[in-house]
Amino acid sequence: MRADAQAQPNIALIKYWGKRDIDENLPAAGSLSVTLDSLWTRMSVEFSDALRGDELVVNAASDEKMLPRISACLDRVAGTDRPRASIESKGNFPIAAGLASSASAFAALVVAASTAAGQESNTLSLARIAGAASGSAARSLFGGFVELQAGDTNIDVETIAEAGDWPLTVVIAITEEGVKPVGSGEAMNRSAASSPFYSSWLEQQPADLQSARDAVLQKDFARLAAVAEHNCLKMHSVMWASRPPIVYWNIATLSCMEAVRRLQNEGHAVFFTIDAGPQLKAICLPDEARLVRSALDNCAGVVRTMVSGLGAGATLLEST
Ligand code: DP6
Repeated sequence: MRADAQAQPNIALIKYWGKRDIDENLPAAGSLSVTLDSLWTRMSVEFSDALRGDELVVNAASDEKMLPRISACLDRVAGTDRPRASIESKGNFPIAAGLASSASAFAALVVAASTAAGQESNTLSLARIAGAASGSAARSLFGGFVELQAGDTNIDVETIAEAGDWPLTVVIAITEEGVKPVGSGEAMNRSAASSPFYSSWLEQQPADLQSARDAVLQKDFARLAAVAEHNCLKMHSVMWASRPPIVYWNIATLSCMEAVRRLQNEGHAVFFTIDAGPQLKAICLPDEARLVRSALDNCAGVVRTMVSGLGAGATLLEST
């Protein structure tokens, strides 16, 4: 009744920012992401009748804060009458800092939990359960370039191109390792409630998604770069115009953006995206990765950089 699974975070190129249904955690629009390969979260789940309550240990320390979300997700996998569970999570990158740690955590959790519960579930149904816990987690069940479509009552998620079809590199500039001030769920609900740009943001999502999908299928880097940067900046504009405003960037985030612009002006194939945190992710062709990394390393305020290729969806590691 114990299973271990691993998942990698994903970085959205067309962002999920807004919910159609807050209770069901259904996204208001589709999104498109790349799943990484060198950052990971491993989750181990063991159900036991001997436990009196669920227990969660994250990177060797007990975690009460995250436990209710984890327990609710386990209820969705195995039912509310399930045995209590001992859950252990380990990761090799900062948590809750805008690096999609909840995406890889919930993706790994649903795979481990369903196996530990003795189920044989298909990937889409697990993605839907993970998505109910954290919208972006649905995409980490799949590898490579992943598209999520938002229906009225459900999501659909699929790989539209494998990691090996177009092996891009992602260079992540960490500008602050601390936990973000506002969680993304709360922040997007504030945007929906108060930003004057929210409705036009949603209106334009289908066109951006289509343009990004076409760019991926045609391996058109320039087109993907243009639509992904535009989409990211629109999402942050929605946030900045929310009340109270949501600003995740710091000065180092801006100097990283400037470094990417400089490289673009010199003709290098690179673009940036930024999520609900101050880290900048630069996506580039593999040949450009060394140059991009050293440019970001040289930006004032960058704590460190990490490099990742594109990788696979969540996988089961072990079950006993
Ligand atoms: C900026 O998936 O963390 O990373 O569903 O409320 O858990 P919840 O939100 P979450 O939001 C991710 C926001 C984003 C964009 C994206 O990954 O698409």
